[in-house]
Amino acid sequence: MNEVLARSKQPLVLQSPLEVHSAVIRARTCGKRVGLVPTMGALHAGHLSLVHAAKAECDVVVATIFVNPAQFGPHEDFDSYPRSFESDIEALADLQVDLLFCPATAEVYPPGFSTYVDPPDVAKRLEGECRPGHFRGVATVVLKLFHWIPAHVAYFGEKDFQQSLMIEHMVRDVGLPIEMRVCPIVRDQDGLALSSRNRYLSAIERQTALALSESLQLAEDLVRQGICETQIIRTEMRCVLEAQGIRDIDYISICNPQTLEEQSEVHSNVVVLVAAYVGKTRLIDNRRIG
Ligand code: PAF
Repeated sequence: MNEVLARSKQPLVLQSPLEVHSAVIRARTCGKRVGLVPTMGALHAGHLSLVHAAKAECDVVVATIFVNPAQFGPHEDFDSYPRSFESDIEALADLQVDLLFCPATAEVYPPGFSTYVDPPDVAKRLEGECRPGHFRGVATVVLKLFHWIPAHVAYFGEKDFQQSLMIEHMVRDVGLPIEMRVCPIVRDQDGLALSSRNRYLSAIERQTALALSESLQLAEDLVRQGICETQIIRTEMRCVLEAQGIRDIDYISICNPQTLEEQSEVHSNVVVLVAAYVGKTRLIDNRRIG
């Protein structure tokens, strides 16, 4: 009985940056290792895998939920972005997350706010080109979270490959005293990478969306067969997407996983990234090929 009660104990929910900062400093002063899992809520098994990773390495786990307006473009889905606070908090309670920080927008962006982070070079291509301002918004909010929650380790998902790389570069460049962990993509059994935006997909669109992971699988198969010209690989991937009716493709990119420079041939490790619309829903996925 006690175990059940302990397992469903809700995390302490804090909205004030000063309160969360004090709580984390107190934990650190007691010698606790603190892990941070930043999210925008609408939690799925991908987010929960980050919490699992944090629980395995840290004594205290802090999750954050903040749908960050600064990382959405004017015609993007900020208003309709899924918000499911009640079920999110239950999921975090089940995993015994200690603290949940969910600041109000006016706390993160007080009236007159005008200080943004200029993101590092790896943010320029791909998502940076397709979603102008997106990484400026991500870098700004993540820096603020790191500042308010002085954790030892922060956990991000490899699904947002470029985002994680961008934050790693920012941590290095600014000299932030935090370790980064980038955890593997979590997929449904049929291969679809988990994303909060999958909730927008109709049953038919969800089926169509499988073409993204299938195109990445094909890229890997082609490389294994010895095809190293990336132009050929990208063309074959595009065929897989188009065969499923996906024509609105933002990019198919095969690049160096450290610099995100486009490669003309695959000779060493690469990351293959794809972004495309399935109906009105923009999805991204990626795969490392070593
Ligand atoms: O990946 C996300 O959920 C968001 O971009 C993040 C890192 C929480 C910043 O808002």
